[in-house]
Amino acid sequence: MPDIGYWNGQFSSLQDIRLSPEDRGFLFGDGVYEVIRAYQGVPAFAGDHFNRLVRSAGEIRIPVPFDQATFQEILLSGIRQSGYSEVKIYIEITRGVAPRDHVFPAPCEPTVFFSFREMGKVPSEWRLKGVSVITVPDIRWNRCDIKSLNLLPNVLAKQQAKEAGVFEAIFIREGSVMEGATSNVFMVCQGGIYTPLINHQVLAGVTQQHVMRTAQRLGKGMECRSISLEELMRADEVFLTGTTIEILPVVAIDGCSVGQGEPGALTKELQRGFASLV
Ligand SMILES: Cc1ncc(COP(=O)(O)O)c(C=O)c1O
Repeated sequence: MPDIGYWNGQFSSLQDIRLSPEDRGFLFGDGVYEVIRAYQGVPAFAGDHFNRLVRSAGEIRIPVPFDQATFQEILLSGIRQSGYSEVKIYIEITRGVAPRDHVFPAPCEPTVFFSFREMGKVPSEWRLKGVSVITVPDIRWNRCDIKSLNLLPNVLAKQQAKEAGVFEAIFIREGSVMEGATSNVFMVCQGGIYTPLINHQVLAGVTQQHVMRTAQRLGKGMECRSISLEELMRADEVFLTGTTIEILPVVAIDGCSVGQGEPGALTKELQRGFASLV
């Protein structure tokens, strides 16, 4: 079965979809996106992803041309047609096709695109033994709460991480920890679990929210607050969260070990708690 795509109202094989070169997503990165994961054919946290998609699109004044029930139908139909049970679903909405001009086209007919591909397995070694990260200056704009297509700083940071032989790059803005290029960051200090303040400078992660709830359910102290790079370097445990990675322990930052240099007890407990959720 080929990978499945959905484009402007129709399903087809992904490779048969042809986008216009005048799509504003292509010309300007003028659009928003989401990534959802389905476990055993069931999309996880679809309502949360839909709400974030609508919010992101609203913040850049793109009308979302479907409601939540239709969104759910597209997800289920695409998953079924793909034949995969572990699925990575990418969703993109752009401001549509128009001759290149910065000003919004009128009328605006958004482009809607979904792809349904098999979700590759995250190496168990990463989950069990942890990953290393580097830190990089945060050169992004001030609306990182919008999941927009403008990912150039993230692309450059992730490439820098790859070339450094590590999994992720963590953005640092004026000495404070923001998030990873593709993930949210948590640290554990003296039994407390912390993640940076959720504001315009970070994406409110769906996984992050559920990890916070999992921590509360397990009776652990959990707080969103500003985290300095120095604190992160001295943390007992650090971990990353994201839809495709779930929870990954971080065992080294910029070549320095985190805690004992191995995944910590609280991180492992949250991994188990999150696994039972999905
Ligand atoms: C910049 C950034 N932060 C955080 C996340 C994690 O978000 P979620 O848990 O909703 O996948 C992502 C995921 O792609 C991301 O790109």
